[in-house]
Amino acid sequence: MKKLVIEGKRDLKGEVHISGAKNSVVALIPATILTRGKCIIRNVPDISDVRMLISMMRELGSVVTFENEILTIDNSNVNPTCISEEYASKIRASYYFMGSLLGRYHHAEMSFPGGCVIGSRPIDFHINSFKKMGAKIEEKFDGFIMNVDGFKGIDIFFDFPSVGATVNVMIAAVLAKGTTRIVNAAREPEIENVADFLISMGAKITGAGSGTIIIEGVENLGDGEIDVIPDRIEAGTYLIIGSLLGTDFKVTGVIEEHITSLISKLKDAGVSIDVNGSTIKVSKPDRLKPVNIKTTVYPGFPTDLGQPMSTFLTQCEGESLFEETIYENRLRHIPHLNNMGADIKAFDKTAIIKGKTDLVGRKVKATDLRAGASMLVAGMIADGTTTIYNIEHLLRGYERIVSKLNNVGANIKLIDE
Ligand code: UD1
Repeated sequence: MKKLVIEGKRDLKGEVHISGAKNSVVALIPATILTRGKCIIRNVPDISDVRMLISMMRELGSVVTFENEILTIDNSNVNPTCISEEYASKIRASYYFMGSLLGRYHHAEMSFPGGCVIGSRPIDFHINSFKKMGAKIEEKFDGFIMNVDGFKGIDIFFDFPSVGATVNVMIAAVLAKGTTRIVNAAREPEIENVADFLISMGAKITGAGSGTIIIEGVENLGDGEIDVIPDRIEAGTYLIIGSLLGTDFKVTGVIEEHITSLISKLKDAGVSIDVNGSTIKVSKPDRLKPVNIKTTVYPGFPTDLGQPMSTFLTQCEGESLFEETIYENRLRHIPHLNNMGADIKAFDKTAIIKGKTDLVGRKVKATDLRAGASMLVAGMIADGTTTIYNIEHLLRGYERIVSKLNNVGANIKLIDE
């Protein structure tokens, strides 16, 4: 078990560089299964989800190297055996192996995908789409057995623009017979990154990043390469921290357009933000004004920044309304914030946050990845020592977070018990 011990209230100054996006790379790695060619993925973050996916790839017979942020993957000897529960149950993105194994080998067996417990998180859009494209899917008590006699391209409409289902259907459609059109597709930047990778292998995809994606099936793919885009959620987390504790605090390697929603809200709260190319400079103001936050799909305010932002709102002078619209269970960190001195009333998916409240160091838990980020921000602004347990969740998504923050003045220890 790992825990973080944070001495709060340190002023931050300096630069934090942003790593590659977790939500891109967790799709890029399974997508390589579609080709027997060689793949190169650059700017790969060294996070536990990536390590887990590399183990899964090796279990399937891939030859993988990971050095200096570059992943090379050779799938010429892949044997599409069952993906064991040990891996699949720990990472939600394991669902992308369904699309790639079925697309390339017409057969896949795997346990139910794991990941953070932030609501029921069904995968019915994925399963129903695969069925419509011709797959036969048998659901057993511990997972799925899936077969398809070659996917056929069709129109797929999503009731809700799901990130995972959009990427999974796009992957599945690359080697399908005919043309697939995904309508009401998710528009998150990671989807375009995955499409660019598939296109580099020879896939025919247009419209990724918009609400309609068209994939014309091809027979074979060749070698592929891609640079992983910067992690907009990691960047946003550091900008939130910088807005509370920073002076001329720089976040580098960012695509500003990917986090316009956050920047706009931080400015509304009175934070001074200066964007210069891929560098964003932020300084804490004397006082913060309350702002209302409603999480929604891209380009709206990202649900993955909702929790760290809720900690920020405890420091704004007045009442802020916080509304989560994607998941039903994303306010589980609120009791921990209240335990540290926050004044938050949560009802279902909405919270009223009254500030400014002085937080004090306590022993708290990271109930999921982004709740861990919320607790981290809280610990950094609190008086005294905060200990965050179950920190494995946080390490799944943030590369070298402890050293990145200590390098700019934080006092955080990662303790392995
Ligand atoms: C992805 C991100 C996650 C982010 C989320 C929303 C990855 C690996 N994870 O998760 O960090 O929080 O997008 O931006 O990229 N839904 C269904 N049926 C489905 C699929 C989704 O009902 O088959 C619902 C979900 O329960 C949820 C909503 O749609 O309420 C959004 O889910 P989705 O966009 O699919 O999220 P993920 O891809 O799981």
